[in-house]
Amino acid sequence: MLVSGRGSNLQALLDATRDGAPGRIALVISDRKDAGGLDVAREAGIAAEWVSVDGKEADATLALLATHRIGLVVLAGYLKRVSGRVVAAFRGRIVNVHPALLPAFGGPGMYGRRVHEAVLKSGARLSGVTVHVVDEQYDHGPVLAPWPVPVRPGDNAESLAARVLAVEHQLLPAVVLACCARLGSGADLSPLDPSADAFSLSTTLPDFRHALIPA
Ligand code: GRF
Repeated sequence: MLVSGRGSNLQALLDATRDGAPGRIALVISDRKDAGGLDVAREAGIAAEWVSVDGKEADATLALLATHRIGLVVLAGYLKRVSGRVVAAFRGRIVNVHPALLPAFGGPGMYGRRVHEAVLKSGARLSGVTVHVVDEQYDHGPVLAPWPVPVRPGDNAESLAARVLAVEHQLLPAVVLACCARLGSGADLSPLDPSADAFSLSTTLPDFRHALIPA
């Protein structure tokens, strides 16, 4: 996993990858030496590496991914663009979680609070979470699984962010485990049908209907 922040998505994935899961977290890399996500990894006994992003990080990143025999790279709160050489080496095997319904409210500079402020400013009644395949552009690769999150009257960036993050913590693990199962069976990553797919997402996330009908 690649993180830049406190690692709440990393913790959610750790909680989901218990015995019998089709994958496990073997390495956490951060572009920030003081990232809380590195501490989360260390506490879980997982390799935790700081790789500063200075335009020459591809060699170090690829070496770490090879050493730890990584099959799937998960970006969770990672704020840098992944080097084109890493994207090429792991084409179709890097996923990212974005706190809005891409392609809306995504792209360069659209991260964290800025995303939710833009959603609120637009007047949208629905935001959401998107897990997508990473390519050479920010928030641009094929969407694997979107999930709606309602914007409620009186929301501010913090309240919307909290509601979206809670869904991220459920959607990302469900999608990542489904991706591990697919890669493990030799299949490529392809769009998932959250309602019908094997990981029965509909039983773990707020029902779509509730997302459309604010309480
Ligand atoms: C949140 O802003 C979330 O929307 C985005 O990354 C941040 C979470 O970071 N995907 P972390 O997982 O708590 O470090």
